[in-house]
Amino acid sequence: MLGNGDIWSAADALRMVDETGADGVVVGRGCLGRPWLFGDLAAAFRGEGLRYMPTLGEVAVAFKRHAELLVEFFGSEEHGCRDVRKHVAWYFKGYPIGGDVRSGLAMASSLQEIDDLLGQLDRDAPYPGADAEGPRGRAGHPKRTALPDRWLESRDVDSEFRKVLAAAELHHSGG
Ligand SMILES: Cc1cc2nc3c(=O)[nH]c(=O)nc-3n(C[C@H](O)[C@H](O)[C@H](O)COP(=O)(O)O)c2cc1C
Repeated sequence: MLGNGDIWSAADALRMVDETGADGVVVGRGCLGRPWLFGDLAAAFRGEGLRYMPTLGEVAVAFKRHAELLVEFFGSEEHGCRDVRKHVAWYFKGYPIGGDVRSGLAMASSLQEIDDLLGQLDRDAPYPGADAEGPRGRAGHPKRTALPDRWLESRDVDSEFRKVLAAAELHHSGG
């Protein structure tokens, strides 16, 4: 059983598992612009308090790599650079990058352009803390966690519920 929804940090994941008895968590919007969240989660589940708090320079490196991989994936520099535009706001949330670089990245169509823009950043700018965290993506109100009937009593899925789950799997892509 996996806990899904509103996991924005390792602390959220630990709380989800602690309060629901889930075996693990699913991350959707929380990793947008923060691929390192998974490292934080792995560390937290190992019982380590480590958290990756990247400088602006480190975020820029990750953003550039993401753009390169999209270019490779689509087999087109223009297509990849256009696709990475939607990630700009997520990667740089809370960092002081300035309106010109922000809008430039959201219009760039070559890796050279992206490089030139990233070159204008103060790479030593530290992790901005709370401003870089929290909801991203299509964020509505946090949802109340729903649990299977009597889950907290037995922390097991009874055979009836297994049937419901199996039926639900047939109707959703699940991925
Ligand atoms: C970029 C993105 C792509 C997703 N794609 C799918 C998908 O293909 N199938 C699916 O069932 N859910 C998909 N989801 C939903 C997530 O698996 C998850 O259920 C939902 O985002 C709620 O979790 P969150 O609060 O962590 O975002 C996607 C979510 C995001 C943000």
